[in-house]
Amino acid sequence: MQPVRFLTGITTSGTPHLGNYVGSIRPAVRASLTAGVESFYFLADYHSLIKIDEPARIQRSTLEIAASWLAAGLDPERVTFYRQSDIPEIPELTWFLTCVTGKGVLNRAHAYKAAVDKNLAAAVDPDSDVNMGLFMYPLLMGADILMFNAHKVPVGRDQVQHIEMARDMGNSFNHRYGNHFVLPEAAIEDSVATLPGLDGRKMSKSYDNTIPMFAQRAQLQKLIASIVTDSRAPGEAKDTHGSALFQIYQAFASAEETQALRQAYADGISWADAKQMLLERIDREIAPMRDTYQTLMQEPLRIEAILAAGAAKARAVATPLMQELRHAVGLRKLQATSQVAASKSAKSILATFKQYREKDGKFYFKLVDVNGDVLLQSLAFDAPKVAGQCIATLQQQGASALESMQEQLEAVNPARRARLMAALTALTAL
Ligand code: TRP
Repeated sequence: MQPVRFLTGITTSGTPHLGNYVGSIRPAVRASLTAGVESFYFLADYHSLIKIDEPARIQRSTLEIAASWLAAGLDPERVTFYRQSDIPEIPELTWFLTCVTGKGVLNRAHAYKAAVDKNLAAAVDPDSDVNMGLFMYPLLMGADILMFNAHKVPVGRDQVQHIEMARDMGNSFNHRYGNHFVLPEAAIEDSVATLPGLDGRKMSKSYDNTIPMFAQRAQLQKLIASIVTDSRAPGEAKDTHGSALFQIYQAFASAEETQALRQAYADGISWADAKQMLLERIDREIAPMRDTYQTLMQEPLRIEAILAAGAAKARAVATPLMQELRHAVGLRKLQATSQVAASKSAKSILATFKQYREKDGKFYFKLVDVNGDVLLQSLAFDAPKVAGQCIATLQQQGASALESMQEQLEAVNPARRARLMAALTALTAL
């Protein structure tokens, strides 16, 4: 069975938070440990340039995110773990995809549309403060995915549109240039797809409502204390629906644990006690990784070496595929093109196969050169299909097939043997 290939990336624009952990890092690490799965995980640092113009922050974030993946149990021997900007094939593929994607498709991308809507609401130019990076974001992401022919892309629900776009891009390219790409699908862990943040909106760097993945326990406690709740007093039944606290708990807890908290809500647990339960539950999972993380953060050289090895593995896939794609679209060595043209004309100049039926009802073929001289004559076949198969064999194997076909052919005219050999050689060179 073909392994299923998982691929996902995290933009290196900040410190990884629990939303990244639950929505991406944890399911990705779990998937990578499954038999029959091949994993490609990367640091999307080209993507970070869209929003961030602080070089030191990008560098710092790259280190933090790499250390987080490794601390979360990613085994770089088992998976292909790399940095996007170490793979020059990705921006090249981005351009190929740019040329098969309608502008209207990108006009409809959520992130771009949100920026435009915000500008419209503020009564400024719709494209005010929108850079082309934001507009082309889905193309770069499509290249990330298609470059490695990923089947499954674990992402949060907000990224599903991008995966669908990547599918469409792959499809358009395949349609035009032949089958080169696997069409990817989003893989969402439904219970945990989007983790709410401190204020109840999606946990996101852009909302400044995150809980850092490796916050020290004291900081974790402070942040959890700031999770927005309603003002119901201890003893009053609480609503799990729409409770950010409950949803975050659920993302870490087993079904039984979740059920117990649900019951506690109904029984009127105080918000303070519920927050204490959440703190303990998160800390139980994260604390063992925290030490590894701190150690790795002190060893940037070690992480650099891991990423370099990952890039070599990734490029072993990307470089040959890119060569194939360049050829497919017509970016070819000039002699490669002219060779084909030359041999094509050689084919028509030297000789062509003709298949026909005689009055005896049997089927025949012959190889005729430009002067009309018959270079090779077949004996009779009962079925036209068999005659066709012999022609195909001669086209593929050339003169070397002659011997095994003696039974089906008339003896070669010695005066025409040299021309026959030249013609067969030219045919097989195609
Ligand atoms: N856009 C993703 C995010 O912000 C990061 C990303 C970039 C990505 N390229 C990708 C995710 C390819 C999955 C596959 O979360």
